[in-house]
Amino acid sequence: MRLDPTRRDFLSLVPALLAAPTLLGCASTAERKPQAAAVLKPDAPLARVAIIGCAGRGADNLGDLLGAGAAVVALCDVDANARESGSKRVASAAVYTDLRQLLRDRKKLKLDGVLVSTPDHTHAFPTALALRAGLAAYCEKPLTHTLEESRRILDLARAAGTPTQMGTQIHATENYRRVVELIQGGAIGPVTSCDCWVNKGWCCGATGPVTEPPKNLDYDLWLGPAQEDPYIANIHPANWRKYWDYGTGTLGDMGCHMLDLPVWALGLDRARLGAVEVRATVDRVDSVGCPEWTEASWAIPQKGRDPMILRWFDNGRKSPTAEELGAKDKVDYHGRFNMVFQGTKGWLWANYGEFLITPSALAAEPKPAHETIAPSPGHHREWLEAIQAWRAGDSTAADRPLCAFGRSSVLNEIVLSGTVAGRAQRAVTYDFQKRVFAGGTPIAHWHPAARAGWSLSDSDLDAVLHG
Ligand SMILES: NC(=O)c1ccc[n+]([C@@H]2O[C@H](COP(=O)([O-])OP(=O)(O)OC[C@H]3O[C@@H](n4cnc5c(N)ncnc54)[C@H](O)[C@@H]3O)[C@@H](O)[C@H]2O)c1
Repeated sequence: MRLDPTRRDFLSLVPALLAAPTLLGCASTAERKPQAAAVLKPDAPLARVAIIGCAGRGADNLGDLLGAGAAVVALCDVDANARESGSKRVASAAVYTDLRQLLRDRKKLKLDGVLVSTPDHTHAFPTALALRAGLAAYCEKPLTHTLEESRRILDLARAAGTPTQMGTQIHATENYRRVVELIQGGAIGPVTSCDCWVNKGWCCGATGPVTEPPKNLDYDLWLGPAQEDPYIANIHPANWRKYWDYGTGTLGDMGCHMLDLPVWALGLDRARLGAVEVRATVDRVDSVGCPEWTEASWAIPQKGRDPMILRWFDNGRKSPTAEELGAKDKVDYHGRFNMVFQGTKGWLWANYGEFLITPSALAAEPKPAHETIAPSPGHHREWLEAIQAWRAGDSTAADRPLCAFGRSSVLNEIVLSGTVAGRAQRAVTYDFQKRVFAGGTPIAHWHPAARAGWSLSDSDLDAVLHG
């Protein structure tokens, strides 16, 4: 379904932003200061880590953990093939099918932390178990499947005080650092808007054909907290992203990587965001499958000025800013980059690996001096070093990984509030400080309740940990 009124409102923001850059105020600079990497003692023991979900992204995470110096002491996967391929790489690791048994065995395994690399709907439960047990947690993006889970995970992380990290590994790159420095140093002037886009889509999960689950898969454990619905052909691996019950569509899949950069560069923490009006237009509203495409916008309040507009476009939907400037400059900005910051003096284009300032005269100007952000030792290494320091009694270590849940939960909630706005078919206001929607949850029965024993309640978590 196409939502013309919403879309009209959404696009009506564009000409004003393009045609008449005004001297709007500068977005606040990020509060995050460069963190000195923890110094490891040469004889310090490696962090002992378990990985839950070993294939797909989990295989990369396994390599990254080993490369960063972790001892991977346990592997858990509901797919026998994934367990086997993980075991071939780390023969010494204990092997589990049920993540609950793994968490129960945490003391026997002498675990320091758990890395979760499962489908979105099973991110929160093992992450919550780890935090409740006082372990460090690394969880793939998006941090959670729902906003309610995001709130609960942040509360558990605060209570645990253990090092956390969301799996937005692009955050550790040099290119993102240079863009943040340039934006905060005023290279394009105060920023009035930022568009992000991705040319891919996870479209349109449907309830059939239903078939028997593959013999190598423990489907009941794969479902975890989700309802006992029949197995849909080819949903595992990867295609669960097309279904609201298990994934978060294209925005949920890619938004945490792309929107991470403006969130960082523009200092969008909870206090800076406040109550944000969120709109999203989608090609269809379906309670089962995610849309073919989404356009979303977040209007970030600025005192006494027009809001700063953050926008998202996926699966062929195009940023009007990129289209208009591309036509003028005869450059395929949309194909080459994934985001554009619009400032009062010009534009900064970026993707994971490069950036470009336009117009060229502005690019040639000397850049204002700005504090240099220290290089990352590596995204996984940030987390492992924080675990080392935390084990040595450093109480500041928990928050040291740059994508610790205290910060990354904000990005997670930006992304998830966009998916909610798309399903609600109306503008919604999400209060990032109170962590609730103004006027209550916009969609009734947004997600079915977790299956018995799989909720994030203290009693369900404790039943697993002490069972
Ligand atoms: N950071 C990145 O760049 C990046 C890239 C790809 C995927 N991801 C994220 O990683 C996660 C996994 O994505 P994927 O593409 O690897 O999916 P996938 O379906 O290919 O793999 C998931 C793995 O987890 C296992 N698994 C599923 N449920 C489990 C459970 N309850 N307990 C233990 N193991 C379980 C599966 O058997 C499979 O081996 C997603 O959240 C995704 O968003 C991140």
